[in-house]
Amino acid sequence: MAIISRPLLLSVLLLGGTEVLGHRHGTSSVPLHGTLAGPSIAINSVPPTVRENWVRRANAALAEAGEPCMFAAFASAIVNHTASTAGELVCTGINSTRQKGDPTLHGEIAAIQNCTAILTDPTGPYNLTGSQALAAFADLTLYTNAESCPMCASAIRWAGFREYIYGTSIETLIEQGWGQIRIPSIDIVRESADLSNPVRLLGGVLSTETDPLFSWQFDSSAPCPQGCVRPAEGGSCVAPSL
Ligand SMILES: *[C@@H]1O[C@H](CO)[C@@H](O)[C@H](O)[C@H]1NC(C)=O
Ligand SMILES: *[C@@H]1O[C@H](CO)[C@@H](O)[C@H](O)[C@H]1NC(C)=O
Ligand SMILES: *[C@@H]1O[C@H](CO)[C@@H](O)[C@H](O)[C@H]1NC(C)=O
Ligand SMILES: *[C@@H]1O[C@H](CO)[C@@H](O)[C@H](O)[C@H]1NC(C)=O
Repeated sequence: MAIISRPLLLSVLLLGGTEVLGHRHGTSSVPLHGTLAGPSIAINSVPPTVRENWVRRANAALAEAGEPCMFAAFASAIVNHTASTAGELVCTGINSTRQKGDPTLHGEIAAIQNCTAILTDPTGPYNLTGSQALAAFADLTLYTNAESCPMCASAIRWAGFREYIYGTSIETLIEQGWGQIRIPSIDIVRESADLSNPVRLLGGVLSTETDPLFSWQFDSSAPCPQGCVRPAEGGSCVAPSL
């Protein structure tokens, strides 16, 4: 499998122009997620516990949308950490492909579109023009509970986010049976150094809480995520009926 045999692994990638800094770990025999799990590195002076809380906030967008046990439980939160280390929420987004019939509406794309709508809303708190909204992404951090597919990782790079933080790795998604395009985000970041805004990438954040969201769908013996149950007759995990 292409991803597992990849010899390089980064718990953090700091990318500026063509210069790639960071911590390279691992060998071809070390699974990526093992190396990435629980990164304890503070990038841009934001402590790991703050990062974890924002991944939790992304997860919470599922329940907020009335879908706490959603099958495709992919959720994102876009946060401004330049105003404060604690961060301010700008918007959230969850996978809406089925709901909207739009195959590109992964959680990250849904969040980017939601933020654009919020930033440019003439009656909203920002009231930005299109070009001001485009520029605003350079201050922002995208949190996602699972590593972005290459479409979304590319969108993150085109948006020019300052930071991109994910929970569950693509490798873990593949192990759990999710069909994936097997290009890790680290490759998209590395290959997109021509774009003007650098991004800092941190993976494996809060994966102890995000992995269970993706581990039950293709394994009927796997436990449901917290707060969800499998009906006696089997099938998908659902919210317990009240
Ligand atoms: C993010 O915070 C910075 C610093 O306070 C501010 O200038 C910028 O307008 C904020 N952006 C958004 C989208 O909230
Ligand atoms: C947009 O983000 C806001 C703020 O987090 C959230 O309340 C709302 O549900 C989101 N809308 C969509 C369509 O995801
Ligand atoms: C979104 O949902 C679709 C269909 O349920 C699924 O195939 C896809 O992997 C999901 N991905 C993301 C990142 O939201
Ligand atoms: C939003 O900004 C435009 C100028 O870009 C201005 O004309 C309009 O009054 C603003 N809307 C509100 C509600 O302040």
